[in-house]
Amino acid sequence: MQWVARAELVAAVSNAGALGVLTALTQPSPQALTDEIARVRSMTDKPFAVNLTFLPTLKPVPYEAYRDAIIDAGVKIVETAGNNPAAHMPALKAAGIKVIHKCTTPRHALKAEQIGVDAVSIDGFECAGHVGEDDIPGLILIPATVSKVSIPVIASGGFGDARGLVAALALGAEGINMGTRFMCTQESPVHDNIKRTIVGSTETDTCLILRSLRNSSRVARTALAQSVIDMEKDGAGIAQIGPKVAGGKGRRVYEQGDVEEGIWTVGMVQGLIDDVPTCADLVRRIVSQAEVLVRDRLCGLLAPALATA
Ligand SMILES: Cc1cc2nc3c(=O)[nH]c(=O)nc-3n(C[C@H](O)[C@H](O)[C@H](O)COP(=O)(O)O)c2cc1C
Repeated sequence: MQWVARAELVAAVSNAGALGVLTALTQPSPQALTDEIARVRSMTDKPFAVNLTFLPTLKPVPYEAYRDAIIDAGVKIVETAGNNPAAHMPALKAAGIKVIHKCTTPRHALKAEQIGVDAVSIDGFECAGHVGEDDIPGLILIPATVSKVSIPVIASGGFGDARGLVAALALGAEGINMGTRFMCTQESPVHDNIKRTIVGSTETDTCLILRSLRNSSRVARTALAQSVIDMEKDGAGIAQIGPKVAGGKGRRVYEQGDVEEGIWTVGMVQGLIDDVPTCADLVRRIVSQAEVLVRDRLCGLLAPALATA
């Protein structure tokens, strides 16, 4: 999570028993990433991953240098996202790194398997951020992907509670990935006003921008986001839209809490979020409620059949 998944949140998620994922590109340079990885290690001895996102950016990114910083720091799990990570696979595999590729269609998941990634994280149309262009919601996307690949599949997009976890497992995933839900926790570095806005929002309070540029992104439904959509309808290109969607402005939203200062990323699952727990309480609650769901609700469905067997 750009601007959000910094060392404090990553360590808190890993300490809670989940896998924290640091974002490489939040750091202004590969050296800063090396330092941030060290900060994670100073706060947890649990496994964590680093995300490297290959997407169109206004400024060119030295991807190889970021990748090498990850390798040199001895990180063991990398989540790639966006474009095909093939060019980076030899270096990552030579370093013994497990690669999880995040994508939004079964066909991209299959391609990722073919180039040697170890697992895919499949992001449904509900998700925060880059939804892709095929608009496949998780209910179809997860089983369709599980049917296509033989590597583990992590379900992503729209997950925030035990009901989602149990559903994802039923659909064939090995686990879930949560972005928006972890953004709205005590340890998240996001301004309290943004956390309050998420808690007060519903599943209809997101929108898609940059559709016209085939870089569709799910963001908070704000007046600024609507103005971007209006510009797109009027045929504006990246030169006109760019200044409105500049990452630095989005960063200030998370830091200062003014929802109209810039474009900010959030998923539909905000409609299911009504508190700001610690990461430990959140993970504990999801696991324990999932156990109750399976034992009391799902096993309960078997009872009549068992009784007549
Ligand atoms: C604030 C924020 C920033 C994000 N930035 C990135 C990013 O830089 N790279 C990436 O691959 N995914 C990014 N995502 C997407 C998440 O990694 C994840 O795929 C998504 O949040 C899952 O959907 P959910 O929010 O419904 O859980 C971001 C999500 C949020 C909420």
